[in-house]
Amino acid sequence: MIESIKGSVVFITGASGGIAQALIPALAARGAAKIYAAARDISSLAGSPTVMPVKLDVTSDDDAAKAAALATDVTLLINNAGVNHNTGFMLAADVAMAREEIEINYIGPLRVTRAFAPVLIRNKGAVLNLLTILARVNLPFMGSYCASKAAALSLTQGLRADLAPKGVRVAAAFPGAIDTRMTAVLTIPKMTPADAATEILDGFEAGEEDIYVGDMARGLAEGLKHDPKGIERQLASG
Ligand SMILES: NC(=O)c1ccc[n+]([C@@H]2O[C@H](COP(=O)([O-])OP(=O)(O)OC[C@H]3O[C@@H](n4cnc5c(N)ncnc54)[C@H](OP(=O)(O)O)[C@@H]3O)[C@@H](O)[C@H]2O)c1
Repeated sequence: MIESIKGSVVFITGASGGIAQALIPALAARGAAKIYAAARDISSLAGSPTVMPVKLDVTSDDDAAKAAALATDVTLLINNAGVNHNTGFMLAADVAMAREEIEINYIGPLRVTRAFAPVLIRNKGAVLNLLTILARVNLPFMGSYCASKAAALSLTQGLRADLAPKGVRVAAAFPGAIDTRMTAVLTIPKMTPADAATEILDGFEAGEEDIYVGDMARGLAEGLKHDPKGIERQLASG
């Protein structure tokens, strides 16, 4: 089971996104040997001797199978791709956006991890899932996003039980707000993607299973320990 980034071979989904674009140079700086940068549109991704763009839509079984057949040397799978429609359960016109969040944020990492499981087991590797502190408590104005990430948290726990006996570590990051395209509509304090990447990789290299990223996430996690109903009410009040 890997803990150090040095010498690792990373496969990261949603590589065109804000956090991934900070994680990729941070992984390279810590000595990752190779980084497969997977995105549904790779036209904007710069390749290099270390970074190899790969086409992958996390909603496609075919893309996932092809990626796992190509990248047989992967030791660290980072399930980072995600979508947030910033919509409440009752405000959305129908359930289409909630369904898409479930498909990308929960079924996506399930699909990609299933495809890479044989590779990760053979290489005694690791999975790192990008969740959110809102996987642990619902923020109603983006309620369906939180529900999809709660499903991804449950997925993370189940995968850990399935894969740890086979030598694969399963970790998860729980960030608060980070300044990317996903949070462009929010006027609240946000971490920079670079600071978030540092904390995520520090936590991973420290051997943490649950990596709380930023003061907002750590504060909410502390509150959930002592007063979970209070935190639920606090977020419900906006
Ligand atoms: N920003 C935050 O405050 C925050 C906080 C906690 C957790 N997170 C999580 O961190 C992860 C990265 O988010 P971010 O902030 O970097 O957001 P972002 O900049 O919007 O990036 C999201 C990425 O996911 C990709 N994606 C969406 N649907 C996909 C699909 N079907 N197949 C493949 N890739 C797909 C996007 O690709 P396209 O470029 O093709 O759209 C984009 O690269 C997400 O899982 C998010 O939930 C973010």
